[in-house]
Amino acid sequence: MEKIKLENLHFSYNQETPVIKNVSLSIEEGTYTTIIGHNGSGKSTIAKLMIGLLEAQSGSIIIDRLPLDEAHIHDIRNRIGIVFQNPDNQFIGATVADDIAFGLENHQVPSEQMQNIIETYAKKVSMSKFLNSEPTKLSGGQKQRVAIAGVLAMKPQIIIFDEATSMLDPQGKAEINALIQEIHREENLTMISITHDIEEVAHSDHVIVLDQGQIVMEGKPEDVLMHDQKLIELSLDIPNALKFQKELWKQGVKLSPCITMEKVVEEVCQLRFKN
Ligand SMILES: Nc1ncnc2c1ncn2[C@@H]1O[C@H](COP(=O)(O)OP(=O)(O)OP(=O)(O)O)[C@@H](O)[C@H]1O
Ligand SMILES: [Mg+2]
Repeated sequence: MEKIKLENLHFSYNQETPVIKNVSLSIEEGTYTTIIGHNGSGKSTIAKLMIGLLEAQSGSIIIDRLPLDEAHIHDIRNRIGIVFQNPDNQFIGATVADDIAFGLENHQVPSEQMQNIIETYAKKVSMSKFLNSEPTKLSGGQKQRVAIAGVLAMKPQIIIFDEATSMLDPQGKAEINALIQEIHREENLTMISITHDIEEVAHSDHVIVLDQGQIVMEGKPEDVLMHDQKLIELSLDIPNALKFQKELWKQGVKLSPCITMEKVVEEVCQLRFKN
């Protein structure tokens, strides 16, 4: 089922300079979509349009077959969780526990269940020790973990991560990415991740490439990421697997094209076996 559909979307912040230009896209339920593009290409703007924080000049947004309009915005917001780039803008509570609870209160979760949910999700993001801390006194990465816990606790059907792990250290990033994958698999979540991490893109189901407010490439990562020259022209990175294959090529070793290091290792092992 089509979970999210954008049709001919146009948006400008000042009514003059177009920021989103005729964007149409469709995201299937339960899939993991990455959106990439250089700084200022319109990624966060699209995310804000999808949750109704900004209003498009023209075009339509349909979530779960409901049009994003005044009559449905409340219902749609209840189905979507979003974690932004900058964690400082997403805290309301006096303690970490209050903060995770905030969304739950809005969803009328009975208070006797609340404590259990707060503890479960704090544990998932390794923040159990900080439940009574003030959110403002946490580090950037810790704040981001709390924001992720707060969104996951509400059990949304769709989650948008707008560079949500960009402030985490490599281990934290790997942990949160693994957690996100686990939840995605377990709960049939529809996930959209806006990212500059090309390795993450290689592991997604679908990738959308934005440039100056327009979709310039779209499809399965194994198809899109093969256009390495185009990606470089768009100031984007290419996966390590492709860089590695290019080096091997220079040495006269040719592998079947692949975009993840896991697959490269598999290919190299097979080559060794053949020889
Ligand atoms: N609140 C705003 N008012 C006016 N212009 C804005 C505003 N927010 C963003 N823009 C402009 O809209 C364009 C798209 O910005 P957006 O934040 O969507 O880019 P992005 O792809 O998310 O970039 P980044 O990778 O840096 O996060 C940019 O040219 C930016 O300057
Ligand atoms: Mg952004």
